[in-house]
Amino acid sequence: MDIENIIAQVEEEIKAADSLERLEEFRLRYLGRKGILAQLTATIPSMPQEERASFGQKVNSLKNKLNLLIEGQKKLIQSDKRDSEVSYYDIGMPGVAQEIGHLHPLTQVNDEICRIFNRIGFSIVEGPEIESEYNNFTGLNIPLEHPSREAFDTFYLKDYPKMLLRSHTSPVQVRAMKKHKPPLAIIVPGKVYRPDAVDASHSFMFHQVEGFMVDKGIRFSDLKGILELFARTVFGDDIKMRFRPHFFPFTEPSAEVDISCIICKGKGCSVCGRKGWLEILGAGMIHPNVFKEVGIDPKKYNGFAFGMGVERIAMLKYGINDIRLFFENDLRFLKQF
Ligand code: PHE
Repeated sequence: MDIENIIAQVEEEIKAADSLERLEEFRLRYLGRKGILAQLTATIPSMPQEERASFGQKVNSLKNKLNLLIEGQKKLIQSDKRDSEVSYYDIGMPGVAQEIGHLHPLTQVNDEICRIFNRIGFSIVEGPEIESEYNNFTGLNIPLEHPSREAFDTFYLKDYPKMLLRSHTSPVQVRAMKKHKPPLAIIVPGKVYRPDAVDASHSFMFHQVEGFMVDKGIRFSDLKGILELFARTVFGDDIKMRFRPHFFPFTEPSAEVDISCIICKGKGCSVCGRKGWLEILGAGMIHPNVFKEVGIDPKKYNGFAFGMGVERIAMLKYGINDIRLFFENDLRFLKQF
């Protein structure tokens, strides 16, 4: 068999080798110890002197070519094998639906509250959860020995005297009023901490949104108007609002604000404890002592402040009866919002 004939044949043969076994048979037939190329090489010594060199070169280049073709075909067979083992495409198989997440209900309600006030010109400001005793109490006209402190029972930090976990967001009033000159309209969302035993309506950590406005000539009616806008946007236009006299050391006069029960519309039911009203926040006109403490002249400026619990608003809005549900993160609960 001469070399030209061999080259014409081999490519077809290699392509026809569709398994590793057949490829190996082919390799042995050509490149094996007794293979065709070995036989050709064995004929060299019996050739005329002038032909030997060029014949030897041809045999060598054929050998290289065969090796390359065999390697290539081997890779092809191996990758085909992988494809057929995995079998990627079963177009009849049901797809896997992607689960789409969403914000936690508390985050949704917190954002909604902030958006309402932001839309009418309040800036959003945050403060630290680790606060000084001064900002949490003294600066807010709550003297250290005053019994009202007990209402804001507090986690103190063991290794940092006079530092605590803030028990309300009101300390950010002190921070903001010291830093910025009036006019101010600020809203403060954030976490607060109180050493309460956990039950259906108490948690050692919860969220508040504080709001306050400071300028010349701010009136109690401004507070009422803004809170009414807020309550109607969250709970609907048909709710009623009432202000009950109350005491906070940092506001005077102070009030607790109720809305008519969203379940019974004021008739009295188990949600509102037969009263027809639901408390939603505390508010009042900023106390002159607070202004003095932060260096704002209470003869020139005045303002209002309010603070609400986000969990409470969310529970009323969605009819949730246990605050613990917000923190257990049971998907069966979370998926409902
Ligand atoms: N800081 C008060 C509380 O946590 C709420 C409040 C804020 C009341 C601002 C009046 C003015 O209960």
